[in-house]
Amino acid sequence: MSEGMRETSEIIDRNEVNDLEAILSVVNTDQDELIHTVHSNYDTIFTWDYEKGARPRLAKLYEKAKSAQWNAETDLPWSTLVDQEQLVVANAVANGGFGSGADLSGTPFAKWGDKEWVRLGVESQNWTLSQFMHGEQGALVCTAKIVESVPWIDAKYYAATQVMDEARHVEVFSKYLDDKLSGHYPINAHLRLLLDDIIADSRWDMTYLGMQIMVEGLALAAFGFMYQMTTEPLLKQLLRYVMSDEARHVAFGVISLQEYYQQLSTAELRERQEFAFEAAVRMRDRFLQQEVWERLGMDAKDVVPVLMQVPERQMFQTMLFSKIVPNCKKLGLLDAADGWLRQRFTELGVITFEDWADTGEEYDSLQAVG
Ligand SMILES: [Fe+2]
Ligand SMILES: [Fe+2]
Repeated sequence: MSEGMRETSEIIDRNEVNDLEAILSVVNTDQDELIHTVHSNYDTIFTWDYEKGARPRLAKLYEKAKSAQWNAETDLPWSTLVDQEQLVVANAVANGGFGSGADLSGTPFAKWGDKEWVRLGVESQNWTLSQFMHGEQGALVCTAKIVESVPWIDAKYYAATQVMDEARHVEVFSKYLDDKLSGHYPINAHLRLLLDDIIADSRWDMTYLGMQIMVEGLALAAFGFMYQMTTEPLLKQLLRYVMSDEARHVAFGVISLQEYYQQLSTAELRERQEFAFEAAVRMRDRFLQQEVWERLGMDAKDVVPVLMQVPERQMFQTMLFSKIVPNCKKLGLLDAADGWLRQRFTELGVITFEDWADTGEEYDSLQAVG
């Protein structure tokens, strides 16, 4: 079978996209590793065409990025006192109380009191911010790779500013975890598989698709959700700074790939669709936060089906795709190859976002106002 026409089961290593047992069987087997090596065979490209502004939208983004740099050490109110347990309670109260909206009788949560819910909230936050930090390192590495592999000078310039942005993002999440929270988690196995796949691919546009469109598109939505939900002022401000960078990063991906994808064949586009689908499923899988259940001594198989009934949780899972789907549409990936990706996103229940604003558009309108 040609590489460009894989069955769903080959792409995601299981027949049924919601097979919980198969999802949970993917675990991080080396939690103590300090260095993780991914081999990649790609061409490093020099260009002798130095004409700046040959791609005006990228050139504009580069100018904007230069003036939007901030300093993680001095621009955020690090002296803010954060009482993590109190915060978990405050967030729960602001959002309707612990486990609200779900019937917990007969589940492992039935006997839970405030103490257990607070512990879960604390661990969830440690886990979430840890995964953000690991994802940010993925972005740092991917963007450095784009500097080397993209053939256009305007894109190399822009990507260089993003490398600095991502260094700052790793720095702020790491500092927040160390100074304000109560423990780290190793990288989630699904997230690591995805980052490994993105890095290992030799084609420069796949780095963009995996990182700028999929991972950063999801991050932008997840940060936005957390920004709305949290009552902690330092985290709120930190997220606001990071999000303003991320919107630019996703726009960088949309603008670059829009041009490149116009000249790809249907078979080549189908490969991009498969890659996007694989990334979507891996990112959805990671949000089951299986490492948290393990740390709490609970069986994820008992817990996850219950949590999936919580309305806030369902909304969160779906909202994660609110940037990805319109951006894939903008790139022509939804409907190429007889709508293969449209069908997959329909099965995942996220196709409803297709007519939301794409990040290129959104970014332009933000600039027009501000
Ligand atoms: Fe980032
Ligand atoms: Fe980013």
